[in-house]
Amino acid sequence: MLLTSLLGLAGLLGLVHASPVDIPASAWPNGPLVTSGRWIHDASGNNVTYAGANWPGAADTMLPEGLQYQSVDAIVAKLKSVGMNAIRLTYAIQMIDEIYANNGKDVTIQDALTKALGDANGQKVLKQILTNNPTFTATTTRLELFDAVAAACARQQIYVHLDNHISSAEWCCSTTDGNAWWGDTDFDVANWVRGISYMAKHGAKWPNLVSMSLRNEPRSPDDKGAAATASKKTYNWQGWYKYVRQGTDAIHAANPDVLIFLSGLGYDTDLSAVTKGSALSPGSDKFALSDFSGYSDKIVLELHNYQNSATSCSSLESGLTNAGFSAMTGASSLQIPVVMTEFGFMMDTSTYKGVYASCLASFLPRIHAGWTIWVLSGSYYIRSGKQDFDETWGLLNHDWSAWRSPAYVTNQLEPMIKASLGA
Ligand SMILES: *[C@@H]1O[C@H](CO)[C@@H](O)[C@H](O)[C@H]1NC(C)=O
Repeated sequence: MLLTSLLGLAGLLGLVHASPVDIPASAWPNGPLVTSGRWIHDASGNNVTYAGANWPGAADTMLPEGLQYQSVDAIVAKLKSVGMNAIRLTYAIQMIDEIYANNGKDVTIQDALTKALGDANGQKVLKQILTNNPTFTATTTRLELFDAVAAACARQQIYVHLDNHISSAEWCCSTTDGNAWWGDTDFDVANWVRGISYMAKHGAKWPNLVSMSLRNEPRSPDDKGAAATASKKTYNWQGWYKYVRQGTDAIHAANPDVLIFLSGLGYDTDLSAVTKGSALSPGSDKFALSDFSGYSDKIVLELHNYQNSATSCSSLESGLTNAGFSAMTGASSLQIPVVMTEFGFMMDTSTYKGVYASCLASFLPRIHAGWTIWVLSGSYYIRSGKQDFDETWGLLNHDWSAWRSPAYVTNQLEPMIKASLGA
C-alpha cells in the first residue's frame, strides 16, 4: 500500500514516466476515436487501423450468426488468433421496430428463432445455442446476444463497429428488396432514424463500440409501388447528403463518442462526388466536413468492392482510388479516412491467389486503409428461405469450428493483418 502510494506520488510529480518516444498506453480501447485528416486516432493520438471481419446479425432471426455451432468466446478467439482487431456487427432496423411495438421490450431468442425457423427447427437451434452458450436461456433477448458478442470482443480487445445493414430482417441486398434507398417500400426514414439512434444509445454501454454506420449499400430502388417510385426520385447525391446528415445528427446526438461511417452510391462503390468535392447533383452544394457541426472529426467514409473478376490490379487500384481512396492518398483536397468495410470471395484453395484478392491484400495495407472482410461465417441460421445455409465465402467452415481455407489464412490473411497493423 505504502509503496503503491509512493509510486503514485512519484508518477504525479513526473518522476516515473514512459520514455519520450512512447505515447502513454491508456486502457484499451483508449477512445473515443477521432479523425485527423486521413487518419483515425485514439485518445492519445495513436493511429488506429481496422483489420477485421463482418459478423452478420441482420437476417431473419436478427441474432448474431453462428451460435448454434460455437460459443461467442470461441468465435471471437478465432479472430483474435490471427490478430484481427475489429468486427463489423450488422443489425436490422426491424429489431428496433419490434422493440417499440412491444412496449420497449425486446423479443426472446426463443421467439425470434421459432418465428424465423418454425417451431420444431427453432426449438432445435435454440437448444444448440444454449448448449454452446450456457449463460444464455430461452428468455435471453436478441439484444442480450449482441451485448454478449460486444462483451466477448471487449475481453479480447476487439473493436466493435455497428452496421445498420437493412430495415427488414433478411438477406441483403438488391434493388428490388424494398430496402434500397431512403423512402423505399420497407425503408421508412423515421423508423431508420429511430433505429440507429436506439442502437447508438444502447451501444454506448459497450466500452469497445467505437463506430457505427448509417446504412449499408445505398442503391437505386427498383421495387414496385408508389413508395419506391417516389424514393427513386431522390436517388442522387443531393438526396444522399440530406439523409446522411439527418442520420449523422441522430447518431451523434444519441452517442457523441462514436465515429460515423458514410456509405456511397451504387451499393457503396462510389464516393467520388464527396472526395472530389464536386457538386452534389442535381443541387450545387458540396460535401464539407464543416457541415457536421461540432463533430466534423467523427466522419469516416466506407467503400465496398466485389470486382471479383478483375484481371488487372492496377486498374482495380485506380478504380478504387477514383471511387474514394484518393482521400487517403493525397490526390484529393478532402483528406478523410476511408475504410473498406466489405470485400470477399470464395474460400477455397485457390481463389485468394487471383488478381482481386491478392490486389486488395496488398493495396489496403499499403495505403494504410482499414478493412473488414465479408464474412465471418460458416453457415447462417437461415438465408433467403434456406435453413442452415452453407456460406462458401465464409472464413469459417460450416460449423464455425475451423478456417474454411487454411491456406488463405496462412498465406494471405495473416500477412495482410500484420501489414495493416504494422505488427
Ligand atoms: C500514422 O501512421 C503514419 C504512416 O505510418 C505515420 O506517418 C504517422 O506518423 C502515424 N501517426 C501517428 C500519430 O503515429
